[in-house]
Amino acid sequence: MTRPLKDNPHPQAIISKRLDFLDPLPEEMHNEDLNPYVKAYFTHGHPVVVGRDAKQYKGNWEACFQRQAPLCLEIGSGNGFFLEGMAQKNPELNWLGVEIRYKRVIMVAKKLQESNIENARILRYDNWCLDDLFEEGSLAGVYCNHPDPWTKKRQAHKRILAKPFANWMAWAMADGAEWRIKTDFETHIDTMLKVIEDLPYTVLGVSRDAHRNGFPWDNAEDVTTNYERKFIERNLPIYALRLQRQVRQS
Ligand SMILES: C[S@@+](CC[C@H](N)C(=O)[O-])C[C@H]1O[C@@H](n2cnc3c(N)ncnc32)[C@H](O)[C@@H]1O
Repeated sequence: MTRPLKDNPHPQAIISKRLDFLDPLPEEMHNEDLNPYVKAYFTHGHPVVVGRDAKQYKGNWEACFQRQAPLCLEIGSGNGFFLEGMAQKNPELNWLGVEIRYKRVIMVAKKLQESNIENARILRYDNWCLDDLFEEGSLAGVYCNHPDPWTKKRQAHKRILAKPFANWMAWAMADGAEWRIKTDFETHIDTMLKVIEDLPYTVLGVSRDAHRNGFPWDNAEDVTTNYERKFIERNLPIYALRLQRQVRQS
């Protein structure tokens, strides 16, 4: 059975003893050398969604986008190339990018504004706390590109591509929705293939060298990310996995 993350606490939350995402206001941070991007983040406005305001949209993301459309989620948007490109390619969908770093949130926001994109938002939030924000079966598509690998064994508990997250995601995804993963860390693919064995996903395709052998989806449906480009330039393989949420049995 799939469950929300909160019913299924993840190792990272237990270690940090932080089950809720904290998004302090600049005046609450008491830091003279405050990162200028922190202030920019709180004052920027559209298309930035401030983390502490985001819970109001649970079950009502249409209010944030000011229109009804299927909701796609990108986890760890980085510089925003993917979010910008996918929102442009798919204007009929609402695109929500999640990113924890202030500077990157502002970079993404600027990209979206410069391209006059109306169907994307960038939210500052912690991936580990995403279950605050979505209802069961509410995500029409999920994209996870080059999540932090945490390559050392003692760091493995920090990897988002593991059982608790995959379990929650199956709960949050709509029937038939796809979860597309690109990574430079092959272990992510092996782990996911193993942990989903008893979860309601179908593997639609996997590639262990997507730029040479092809992605398990049409190239026209994809956008090269910043990290992906770095790995291509170094002639290193990109691994890709395409999952589909199975239809719920009523
Ligand atoms: C390796 S980068 C990949 C960025 C982008 N997806 C790409 O492919 O170029 C991982 C991104 O995830 C973000 N990130 C890491 N941990 C996060 C968390 N707990 N919640 C939200 N974003 C996180 C990082 O700040 C970073 O931008």
